[in-house]
Amino acid sequence: MSKEEILLRAYENAKAAFIPVCDEECARVLREQCEKTAPERILEIGTAVGYSAAVMALACGAQVDTIDMDEERLLAAQKLWKELGISGRIHAFCGDVKAILEQVTHGKKYGLVFIDGPKSAYRYIFDHMKGHAEENAVIISDDVNYLGLVQGEGYPPHKHRTIVVNMRKYLEYISAPPFETSIFWEDGIAVTKVKKW
Ligand SMILES: C[S@@+](CC[C@H](N)C(=O)[O-])C[C@H]1O[C@@H](n2cnc3c(N)ncnc32)[C@H](O)[C@@H]1O
Repeated sequence: MSKEEILLRAYENAKAAFIPVCDEECARVLREQCEKTAPERILEIGTAVGYSAAVMALACGAQVDTIDMDEERLLAAQKLWKELGISGRIHAFCGDVKAILEQVTHGKKYGLVFIDGPKSAYRYIFDHMKGHAEENAVIISDDVNYLGLVQGEGYPPHKHRTIVVNMRKYLEYISAPPFETSIFWEDGIAVTKVKKW
């Protein structure tokens, strides 16, 4: 099996098991940004079964630190990376992101960050990167148009209100100086360039 076939199988198995993985468009953006920025180190929040970490590791020669709180998913991820021959460059950390982010990133700087974990922690993770982001780092936030409800100013349904309101505030924050953010609404991705922080 080629690497592409192994990746496709991992993607399809995850979908069949209702495990959320980044879609084709998001994978394309990740590849493109990895090739463009050629980061030495990548941080990912939300590993799931290792699909997006593999996409990034295969697109550049970076070391990848990735965090997830689901031990079973991390075991599946490690199997995938081994099969792809990239397990030596991907370092998985198991735990709640807010509890372990400090320890994982201690003394390290990242050229690319992919935020694809709990929405309630996006702002916390983003702010944490101050001091851990290389100059000209790129921070990619996934699923920012949660259920298509974030774009515009419509009043969200009661049960999604907190997530939608907080996501709108997050996008406003990352779109103002010193950050430059492009929001791809259709794909639900925000790409932020960090110049000076
Ligand atoms: C959308 S999935 C990640 C998909 C993955 N990036 C991909 O595209 O292949 C989100 C992951 O975040 C993890 N997660 C949710 N809350 C978390 C938390 N508080 N700390 C760490 N991981 C968390 C979930 O277990 C889940 O696997």
